[in-house]
Amino acid sequence: SEAIEINEAGHLAVGGVDSLKLAAKYGTPLIAYDVAQIKAQIRRFKQAFIAAKVPYRVTYASKAFSALAMYQLISKEGLGCDVVSGGELYAALKGGMPPEKIEFHGNNKLPAELEMAVAAKIGCIVVDNFQEIAFLKQILAEKDATAAVVLRVAPGIEAETHKYISTGQENSKFGFDVRSGQAEKALKAMLAEPRMNVRGVHCHIGSQIFAAKGFLMAVQKMVSLLKDWHEKYDFTAELLNLGGGFGTRYTDADEPLPANEFVSQIITAVKEQITAAKLKFPEIWIEPGRALAGEAAVTLYTVGSRKDVEGVCHFVSVDGGMGDNIRPALYQAKYEAVVANKPRALKEQIVTVVGKYCESGDILVRDALLPITHPSDILAVLSTGAYGYTMASNYNRNPRPAVVFCEDGQDQLVIRRETYADLLNCDLEV
Ligand code: LLP
Repeated sequence: SEAIEINEAGHLAVGGVDSLKLAAKYGTPLIAYDVAQIKAQIRRFKQAFIAAKVPYRVTYASKAFSALAMYQLISKEGLGCDVVSGGELYAALKGGMPPEKIEFHGNNKLPAELEMAVAAKIGCIVVDNFQEIAFLKQILAEKDATAAVVLRVAPGIEAETHKYISTGQENSKFGFDVRSGQAEKALKAMLAEPRMNVRGVHCHIGSQIFAAKGFLMAVQKMVSLLKDWHEKYDFTAELLNLGGGFGTRYTDADEPLPANEFVSQIITAVKEQITAAKLKFPEIWIEPGRALAGEAAVTLYTVGSRKDVEGVCHFVSVDGGMGDNIRPALYQAKYEAVVANKPRALKEQIVTVVGKYCESGDILVRDALLPITHPSDILAVLSTGAYGYTMASNYNRNPRPAVVFCEDGQDQLVIRRETYADLLNCDLEV
């Protein structure tokens, strides 16, 4: 990738910090974020809204990377955040996220999680199904409380992405379907609840999307719904949430639209459709996760054993793997790697970079074009900032890695490495 930073020593650097220094100081595997890159992406998302002078909110989908330090950074930048579990809600609140800027998603929010959200008076609960309406109604009555809610619509749009991460289609487990009349029925049910303040509508068409087309189709669909519901129920949406899914670059083959261009095309479409429908202009919300965190991090590993099967393949093993990055195994996701101590060296071999887990599918990079590597070289896998740490596991009782934030030549540990003792935290001696 051309985007990587190489310092005067000829080493890969992250946020102005030498990656070899990071590896020596914190050990490997280590996930290292370039904070300035996160901030630059935030600015790109905001810029188009600000230029167009339209009301908006960017809510970071914290499932991409949830850490106290990330919530702190995000809230300082004025963003909201999206949580999808009691655990994420707990972390967001601990991370200093103002409750009114938190929105809560999920297809099976537990009664205890809904209670938490109501008690914390969060910004909005994105209601997903009829059971949730019933639970919420009961909780609000018991607690003598009110809640801001948003209706999640399954808009029936297929985003062009991997089927496991496309969510907008009609047979999705998320949201109220439109065609069968579920969405309208849900709206009526919520409007009839005086304790529910229906603030708007939401849809999310999928993830790792490269072109604006799906979003523009979603705008059309959502605004036509709003028009219909305005006529029938005098319902005015204060906000139109178009979800996340803005694609990022993992390898040079990926060419997503830049964040600001996604946003400006969305704004143009909303303006056109809302004006044509003669509706009040809603706040436009988006929920990027991957696009804020993904390209900002690299994972540093130490090279270990090697296996050459002449004429067949060559394996280079590293000290992490599917426990810190399940995406290649789960989605056949592609990544690029560089040797951090010699990123410019002649690339002389094609190898399969594998992890240390007892599983043949534990592959990090297939067909990696690399210089000849030796044990103790530091290998960096690029663009690992989203859905890496958050999907990490302790498979094989491997500790999860440490995470460090780097900016202006300074490094700050934000998640420490797990110890073997941590791994037994929940085990009971019997
Ligand atoms: N909003 C909603 C309602 C979502 O369901 C998601 C992602 C997002 C926002 C953020 O999407 P993003 O901007 O990050 O693409 N583990 C998978 C991705 C699952 C995404 C689930 N929902 C992966 O590693 O690719």
